Amino acid sequence: MVVSHIVAVSRNFVIGKNNTLPWRMPADMRYFHKVTDGHIVIMGRKNYEANGKALKNRTNIVITRNKAFRPDDAIVTHDIKTALEIARTDHPKEVFIVGGGEIYRQTLDMVDRIYITVIETEVEGDAYYPEIDYSDYTIVSRIHKKADQQNPYDHTYYILEK
Ligand SMILES: NC(=O)c1ccc[n+]([C@@H]2O[C@H](COP(=O)([O-])OP(=O)(O)OC[C@H]3O[C@@H](n4cnc5c(N)ncnc54)[C@H](OP(=O)(O)O)[C@@H]3O)[C@@H](O)[C@H]2O)c1
Repeated sequence: MVVSHIVAVSRNFVIGKNNTLPWRMPADMRYFHKVTDGHIVIMGRKNYEANGKALKNRTNIVITRNKAFRPDDAIVTHDIKTALEIARTDHPKEVFIVGGGEIYRQTLDMVDRIYITVIETEVEGDAYYPEIDYSDYTIVSRIHKKADQQNPYDHTYYILEK
């Protein structure tokens, strides 16, 4: 089972602000949905709350320490190891860890692949992706897109593999 992160980061590693995304980039949202569609996604409770509901057409596993948190559209676990074990029982080729910052930080050393969209700007925020050592990874794909009417920033889709 390949364990992947999928994330969009600013040049200064910001991923979120006030429990939402700091930008409106519909092209990246479409990319996220296309890559993860039909797969198992693992997320922190705050990310789940930011979405407001489970991501559709995906098995959603939410990690929380709160034993009373029981949404009816997601599987809940209380630690990261169990989330990955539950995913593994389904024998998927790939499982996607979809954030947010706390969950990315605690799982960075477990991932084989990172789908990282660099939003080519610096923004303020309160949630960050951990700074990665690019020498640990090979860039297997890089697609650069210019800003356009719907997407205010240039952005670059990278796929990195360990
Ligand atoms: N740009 C992107 O690609 C992207 C992707 C995803 C999210 N985001 C952004 O990231 C922000 C949210 O990230 P965040 O760091 O604040 O929160 P988060 O990682 O989504 O969730 C944190 C919560 O997860 C639970 N948790 C974390 N570690 C745990 C552990 N070891 N065991 C059990 N439970 C654990 C805790 O839930 P409880 O408090 O319930 O115990 C904790 O409060 C939002 O702004 C969101 O929009 C951005």
